[in-house]
Amino acid sequence: MKRNAIILAAGKGTRMKSLNQEVSKVGFEILGKPLINWVLDAAKPHITGRTVVIVGFGGNHTSKLVEGKAEIAWQHEQKGTGHAIIQTAPLLEKEKGDTLILSGDVPLITEQSISGLLNLHSKEKNDLTILTAKPDNPFGYGRVLRAPNGEVTRIVEQKDLTGNEGDISEVNAGMYVVNNKKLFQELKNLKPNNKQGELYLTDIIGLFKERGYKVGAFVLANPDEMLGTNDRAQLAEAAELLKKRINLMHMLNGVTIEDPNNTYIGPDVTIGQDTIISPNTTILGNSNIGVANEIGPNTYLKNMKVGDYNTIIYSHLVDSEICNNVKVGPFARMRQSALVKDESRIGNFVELKSTTFHEGVKASHLAYMGDAELGAHTNVGAGAITANYDGVHKYKTIVGEHVFIGTNTTLVAPLHIGEGSYLAAASIINKDVPKDTLAIARSRQENKEGYANVIREKQKKK
Ligand code: UD1
Ligand code: MG
Repeated sequence: MKRNAIILAAGKGTRMKSLNQEVSKVGFEILGKPLINWVLDAAKPHITGRTVVIVGFGGNHTSKLVEGKAEIAWQHEQKGTGHAIIQTAPLLEKEKGDTLILSGDVPLITEQSISGLLNLHSKEKNDLTILTAKPDNPFGYGRVLRAPNGEVTRIVEQKDLTGNEGDISEVNAGMYVVNNKKLFQELKNLKPNNKQGELYLTDIIGLFKERGYKVGAFVLANPDEMLGTNDRAQLAEAAELLKKRINLMHMLNGVTIEDPNNTYIGPDVTIGQDTIISPNTTILGNSNIGVANEIGPNTYLKNMKVGDYNTIIYSHLVDSEICNNVKVGPFARMRQSALVKDESRIGNFVELKSTTFHEGVKASHLAYMGDAELGAHTNVGAGAITANYDGVHKYKTIVGEHVFIGTNTTLVAPLHIGEGSYLAAASIINKDVPKDTLAIARSRQENKEGYANVIREKQKKK
């Protein structure tokens, strides 16, 4: 059966108290990933039809975050969750099958719980199945009213509670799966008869019941999964739970995490067995870390590909790749598609930008290589730098294999250094060097013997 998805994400997020009016609540990040993308990714395996995100406040920003992953429906005025869903009618009204409705600010929902909801929906042949939970404190949520036989009859919002309805512990988690045709038919009958004067999506339960349609409920085993992120305290609470969930998964897969409380691993990161993660390490984005590496302490990796049997310590590495058996750091930096091949070494205070080190290249201390390519087994002396930028354009430095770059050498690009050459220490090299050449570019040393005594005599007289 065809299944579509709608994700509610038009709300303002006033309680986030953000200065930036361009960013929507669902654009806030947990472990490097915007809230809306956590929800989209949890839904994705279950969706065979169209996916629509409803945007409003900060809608341009939200649209960018989901580009290529979902269609957009605008809700220019926030008149309630039912009103929001109506805005998707031009895109979805004629679609067959079921539609899964989720909230863009509820990032803890898991693929497994969505499965549970969908399985119950098809097993019971329901027209509408709502996701419910029994949190410790039901305050603020819509309460689920059931008939004596257990059937769900209605949802009452916190502000509309009467009598002792507030004592009901089961609440609406705000996620649903519903027959698409029937959904759009009944949305037309919603009325803003409530304290907030809004069109409540939850009122479709009553409308479905009136028509004799079948309504069921799936209760979340873990109520944490429905936690919303309405302010920055809830954002941190959700981040803590997601961090724990991810770290536990890696540990059970054979990764050692020495201090799980102080290790931050993004949801799309993969890590091979026997890799050891030391404290205060953050690994985000699309990072893939191989087996038996030692990462950290105090390391930041983002969008990094790392081979097997590496040691990476105290480094800040982004958007780059390290192959096998490479030692990096402490205090190294890689960025903008740097590539370091097998058996290479990057030592302290070495920065690589858009640079390739072929096999066995060593830069052990204090170097900057930008827009460069270094052939296998070349050695980079301490203090060597590429002058790759003239203030307007960037230029390339190409170095052959087995070159010895002396300490404090400046390589003024564009430049070619032939294989097997030596560049003398402290040279400023701005002309190409043929292979097997010694290039020296510095003034000759002059020794004035005995002149130190002349200086000392002069100093005494002052
Ligand atoms: C909603 C439910 C409530 C449930 C709770 C779970 C309704 C009427 N109530 O209440 O039963 O317990 O979620 O968290 O549905 N949104 C829009 N456009 C709008 C209004 C809301 O896109 O006009 C979006 C929000 O951005 C949010 C989601 O819909 O992602 C839920 O809206 P929110 O205002 O948080 O609803 P609640 O009052 O919390
Ligand atoms: Mg809410």
